[in-house]
Amino acid sequence: MINVAIDGPSGAGKSSVSREAARRLGFIYVDTGAMYRAAAVFVMQRRIDPDDAQKVGSILPMLDIELRYEDGEQKVYLCGENVSQVIRTREVTRCAPIVSAHPKLRQCLSDMQQEIAQNNNIIMDGRDIGTVVLPNADVKIFLTASAEVRAQRRYKEMIEKGIDITYDDVLEDIKERDYYDEHKPISPLRPARDSILIDTSEMDYEHSIQVVVDTIKNRVGI
Ligand code: DC
Repeated sequence: MINVAIDGPSGAGKSSVSREAARRLGFIYVDTGAMYRAAAVFVMQRRIDPDDAQKVGSILPMLDIELRYEDGEQKVYLCGENVSQVIRTREVTRCAPIVSAHPKLRQCLSDMQQEIAQNNNIIMDGRDIGTVVLPNADVKIFLTASAEVRAQRRYKEMIEKGIDITYDDVLEDIKERDYYDEHKPISPLRPARDSILIDTSEMDYEHSIQVVVDTIKNRVGI
């Protein structure tokens, strides 16, 4: 099986680039952020304090997350319920980093992710895939872009959705998130020693996909 790990900060276009690169290569795309988001929904549904490591740990045996592929789209099921939409809400976006800080939960999701990788050709994206989940991945990519470029992209998306926000607020949020991701005690965001750095600051979407696909093909010889 061919395993590709793509890590990087939020807003670097990881998910959209990984999803399309996987489609072009005929691989399965695994969005691990969606799994952490589903875990956050699970904690919220049970009205558990997301900071309470013990309580979060105690419900893990009931945690049932499944990624299904319907018409080429990844759908996320939590205990049999489709949560693909709800995991994108602001409440869940706020809760996900809190629950993702618990080592037991990370271990549980990491086990699930390793099992998926064992049986499929995959592109898996996240924060700790090349460093922790798949240390022996065939290809490791660290996909990044400057905070200013990521903020500009995110700002444009939000304005198009009719969200009332300033560029400076978006940039501040991104910088804050970067700091948190890079300094968290468990699985901080950092490039794996043997990862290939791809900076998309000067690339558009199509160019980024091409570079990722070519990098993977060159590395694995397909
Ligand atoms: O990439 P995203 O925004 O969908 O990720 C959701 C949350 O999960 C975010 O707080 C980072 C966290 N996460 C993580 O800790 N480890 C991963 N492999 C993927 C995401």
